[in-house]
Amino acid sequence: MNDKQQQGSIEDIPEALRDSPVSPTSSSLNPKLLMVGVSGLIIIILGTLGIMRLVSSPSQTNPNTVAVEPTPSPSPTPEMVENILGHLPYEEADPDQLKAVTNDGRIKLRKKAADSFLKMQRDARANGIILTPISGFRTVEQQEYLFFEIKRQRNQDTRKRAEVSAPPKYSEHHTGYAIDIGDGQVPATNLTENFEQTPAFRWLENNAAKYSFELSFPRNNPQGISYEPWHWRYVGDADSLKTFYEAQQLQNKSSSEENIVN
Ligand code: DAL
Ligand code: ZN
Repeated sequence: MNDKQQQGSIEDIPEALRDSPVSPTSSSLNPKLLMVGVSGLIIIILGTLGIMRLVSSPSQTNPNTVAVEPTPSPSPTPEMVENILGHLPYEEADPDQLKAVTNDGRIKLRKKAADSFLKMQRDARANGIILTPISGFRTVEQQEYLFFEIKRQRNQDTRKRAEVSAPPKYSEHHTGYAIDIGDGQVPATNLTENFEQTPAFRWLENNAAKYSFELSFPRNNPQGISYEPWHWRYVGDADSLKTFYEAQQLQNKSSSEENIVN
């Protein structure tokens, strides 16, 4: 290979990629090589500065630093959803303290609540009103099914579900003091807002307080739970009062503490 051919082959390689610079043929500096040298020096200086910046601020986009990504919150599971909206926590009643309010024995309330309901039902009947029990005491396990399984079937998100159903451990039905009531003459309105149009609801509005029953979730209740004209709770003895009003006070206290912190 002659000099010309060799020179030609070096010229074909881009300068920046050449392994070794071509030795100058004379003692005078080749201006082209001088340019390469100066550029190389600048690249080295800039490179060093860049590395120093990355070392002093690791959050920069250095491919070697491990990015700390926010952990995505997984979908709620039965274990995780403790509470949502303003549902209050309740203990499950002792089964020995329950009494049936239906002939088949399937719907039960605490004894005092059951006696009061049965009396109310009799008096309503005497006025041509049929108060039908739909649901009374529920275990945490039953509420778990109602909350999560129905949520799944209806494809509801957790917040939407909580508007109409309490998460397990947060239902008034655990206490044995709460009862869902329907109108035996208009069963199509059971567990719907239309229940408020029925003679049974109007009768309850005028008379339930005499039997120590009150509506738990009136329209625009502060807990943010949907209006439930069918859901009544017994507040006729010290234990039931304590159960519901202490729970409410605890909730108010913790929200006012939150406000102070916020
Ligand atoms: N429907 C009421 C909120 C409950 O599930 O207890
Ligand atoms: Zn209810």
